[in-house]
Amino acid sequence: MRRGQIVQLTLWSFLYAGIASAIALLIPWLPTAASREAGRIHFVYWFVTGISIAVFAVVAAVLTYELLHFRATPGDDSDGAPIHGHTTLEIVWTAIPALLVTAISIVSAIVLAKNDSIPKNHITVVVTGQQFAWTFKYPEYGNLQTTVLRLPIGKSADLEIHSVDVLHSFWVPEFSQKQDAVPGSTNHIKVTPDKLGTFPVMCTELCGLGHGLMRSEAIVMKAADFEAWAKKSQTPAPGGGGAANGAAVFKQQGCGSCHTLKAANASGNVGPDLDKLPQYAKEADKPLEAFIRESIVDPNAYIQKGFPKNVMPTTFKDLPPGQLDALVSYLVQSSRKGG
Ligand code: CUA
Repeated sequence: MRRGQIVQLTLWSFLYAGIASAIALLIPWLPTAASREAGRIHFVYWFVTGISIAVFAVVAAVLTYELLHFRATPGDDSDGAPIHGHTTLEIVWTAIPALLVTAISIVSAIVLAKNDSIPKNHITVVVTGQQFAWTFKYPEYGNLQTTVLRLPIGKSADLEIHSVDVLHSFWVPEFSQKQDAVPGSTNHIKVTPDKLGTFPVMCTELCGLGHGLMRSEAIVMKAADFEAWAKKSQTPAPGGGGAANGAAVFKQQGCGSCHTLKAANASGNVGPDLDKLPQYAKEADKPLEAFIRESIVDPNAYIQKGFPKNVMPTTFKDLPPGQLDALVSYLVQSSRKGG
């Protein structure tokens, strides 16, 4: 090759590499990485992207050069010169891709192994998918149960993911990992959060009518704040001040994302309006308190007209009895005021 050709090919390569790099870097393709695992996954992504940009730049440069210099002149119908292969060239274009693909495999294997190994010092969170809500249970904290995932920063969490009905899929974009929730088996992902903040939890498997509503939040907290929250939330509601604690249970269990209740400043409209509970109880011909309790622990026993069945999670029957009592009496009191 002449020097002039090499200079031209190099310039075209740099131009194409520059354009592709700008598209890769200037557009925020990825969410912020909020866990160590996500950081590693992002590293693999950029590693592969870098290789792709280099390959693209070289191929596009050669193509451009050929289009400019080897185009047939108008009216030239003659055949090109016959070519009988080029051994050196063939070895080069086989060896380089083989090396690149091997490098990608090694980097990916290391990241997979690191992301999958769960250290001894971890917390366990049992994640349950159900049409159409997520629940999170903390076995090391007295089986504390919530509908919002809370995790301490810097500590690995082993998420044990399963489903009680159909296929769901657990995803927090900022944690970069997705895992299916499968009835009858348990899947794991390890998350080691390294950024404080609130991130969306969503279902990414079409699981029925309420699939799009199957969302929650993952809150990454300072370790001390997490311990304080877990300790406070474990304490069962004492018999006396039921209504006050009921408000806390209502908030913690996320009832307000689906239901309206003036007393709790909640305006959800997926499920029945809880300010109308006394009227609904009358229609169902049941005493108010028993009606509310049944609707929480066995939501499909009576379905309010105009609302679909199987939307309210049936996991609330596992609430600690103290919290359940507090929630029932809170709903009795506030719906009487609200209705
Ligand atoms: Cu659960 Cu979609």
